[in-house]
Amino acid sequence: MKFFQKSKSYLLFVFIGFLFAACGGNEPKQSAGTQQPTKVVPNYHEQHRPQFHYSPPTKWTNDPNGMVYFDGEYHLFYQHYPDSTVWGPMHWGHAVSKDLVHWENLPIALYPDSLGYIFSGSAVVDWKNTTGFGKDGQPPLVAMFTYHYMPGEKAGKSDYQSQAIAYSTDRGRTWTKYEGNPVIPNPGNVKDIRDPKVIWDDARNQWVVALAVGQHIEFWNSKDMKSWSKLSEFGDGLGAHGGVWECPDLFPITVEGTKEKMWVLIVNLNPGQPNGGSGTQYFIGKFDGKNFNLDPGFAKKVQGGNAVWLDGGKDNYAGVTWSDAPDGRRLFLGWMSNWEYSQAVPTVLWRNAMTIPWSLSLHKTQGEYHLFGEPVQELQALRGTHVDLSKSNIRGGLDLTGQLDISTTLSEIELEFAKPDDYKGSFGVMVSNKKGESYRIGYNATTNQFFSDRLKAGDSSFSAEFAKQQSTINRFSNAKTVKLHVFLDVASAELFADNGANMMTETFFPSEDYTQLKIFSDGGNPELLEGKIYQLMGIWK
Ligand code: FRU
Repeated sequence: MKFFQKSKSYLLFVFIGFLFAACGGNEPKQSAGTQQPTKVVPNYHEQHRPQFHYSPPTKWTNDPNGMVYFDGEYHLFYQHYPDSTVWGPMHWGHAVSKDLVHWENLPIALYPDSLGYIFSGSAVVDWKNTTGFGKDGQPPLVAMFTYHYMPGEKAGKSDYQSQAIAYSTDRGRTWTKYEGNPVIPNPGNVKDIRDPKVIWDDARNQWVVALAVGQHIEFWNSKDMKSWSKLSEFGDGLGAHGGVWECPDLFPITVEGTKEKMWVLIVNLNPGQPNGGSGTQYFIGKFDGKNFNLDPGFAKKVQGGNAVWLDGGKDNYAGVTWSDAPDGRRLFLGWMSNWEYSQAVPTVLWRNAMTIPWSLSLHKTQGEYHLFGEPVQELQALRGTHVDLSKSNIRGGLDLTGQLDISTTLSEIELEFAKPDDYKGSFGVMVSNKKGESYRIGYNATTNQFFSDRLKAGDSSFSAEFAKQQSTINRFSNAKTVKLHVFLDVASAELFADNGANMMTETFFPSEDYTQLKIFSDGGNPELLEGKIYQLMGIWK
C-alpha cells in the first residue's frame, strides 16, 4: 500500500462525500440561513449500517488492532481517522466487549504525534511485568504499533516506518507512549516494515514479534519489549507475492482431536488475492523460538506462487487473533472490506466494519493441515424466532418470504444438502428486494466451488472492481453432504461451509434493504436434508 497515494485521493473523496450530502445522504446538512452544519448523532440505523457487526460510530476504519482479552473484556482497537470517511492520519479507535457480541465504544486510545501516524499493531498483557510499566502489583497492557512518518514518505525517503510501544495501567482506558520510542527504528532503507504482532513465547521466556517487511516476515525477540534483536526471516518464494505483506499473526495451536502442536503464521497481503485486491493467506509449520519452519506437506502447497487462503470472499482483510483469549480459544476478527474500493463504498456517516468474530481450529485430514473458522458460539445470543425446514426437494427454489415470522433478512441460516455424485448445478441462499436487486451465496456442484455473487446486488457504481465477477473458492471437504451456515446482515454475508472448512465474506449495498429470502437452486433437483433459519437481533439500540 502506498500511503501517500491514499492521502492524495483524499480530496477527491471529500468532494464525493460532499456530493452525497448534497444529494440527500445522512451526512450533516446545512440548515437554511446558517453556515453551521447540524450535528448528526449516529443511531446505527443509517442506510447500509451493519446491525450485529462492529462498525465505528462515525468516520473511517480499516484494520482491527491490539486485540487482547483482559479482566473480563475483549479489547478491539482499530485503525481510525476520526475526521473523515476516507483513510488519513491514523489513530487507534477503541471498543470493548464482555461477550464478543455487544460492543461499548470508548474514547480514542492512541493519537498521532511528532513520530508519525499510529499504524496497525497488537497488544498483550505483560503478566510478568517485564517492561516495568506495571503499577500496584497489576500487570500493564502493552501495545506495539508502527509509526508512519508522513513527511518522510512525502519527501521520498524510505525510512519513515518504525515500531513503538505504549502502555496502560487502567484497563486500557488511557495510554502512555514509551519515552524511548521507537523500540525498533527503521533500518534506514526499508519502506514497508510494519504491523508488529507481539506474543509471549513461554517455552523460551521471551517476547517474539512478527513484522511484515516488504514481501517477507521477520521475527525479532526481546526480554522487555524495549530492546529487540532480529531472529530470522520467512517467506521468500513461498505463498502469494502479488503485493506487499502486511498484518502478520503467529500462534501455536493444537491439532483438533490430537495432542499435536503446530504453529500458524497468518500473512495478509495487498493486492494479490485470487478474487482481486487484498486478502489473507496462511502457513502451517513450527516455530522453534528463532525460525518458522514450514510443515513439509504444507510447503508443497505454497511453492511457485501458490497460496492457501483463509477466506474465499473479497471482504475479509487484515484479520489477526486475540491475545490471551480465555479457555485456550483462538479468536479471529477481520476488517470486512478490501483496499480495492474500501474508500468509495456508499456509506456517508461512517465507513467500513469488522467481520463477526471467528473461532479458529486446525484440522489434519489425510495428512493435510487446514485451518477452520466458525462463528463464535456467543453469537447465538442474538437468535430470535426460528423456523425448521424439513427434508424437501428444492427444484426451482424455495421461497421463504412471508412463510416465516421473519420480517427482515437479518438472519442466521443453516442448511444441509445431499450431494449425489452425479448432481450438476448450484444451490444456496438468495436475498432480494422489490427493486429487483439480489445477492446469492452458495455451492456450485459442477465446479466444486463455493461462490458469492453480488453482480446484481445493488449499487456498484463506486468501483469497477466491486461487481466485476463472482468470487469463488475451491471446496475443501470430501463430505457427502454440503453444509451451508450463513450470516446475513444489512450489508454483508458470511458463509461457513462444511463445519468451518470453507469460509467466504462479502459486502453489498442494495439501494433499499433486502426483504425477500429464498433457497435457490439452479439446475437439477438438490435435496435439502434439513435446515434452520433464525431471525437475528441487532446489537445497537
Ligand atoms: C493494512 C494496512 C497496514 C497499515 C495500516 C495503515 O490494511 O495497510 O499495513 O499498518 O493498514 O492504516
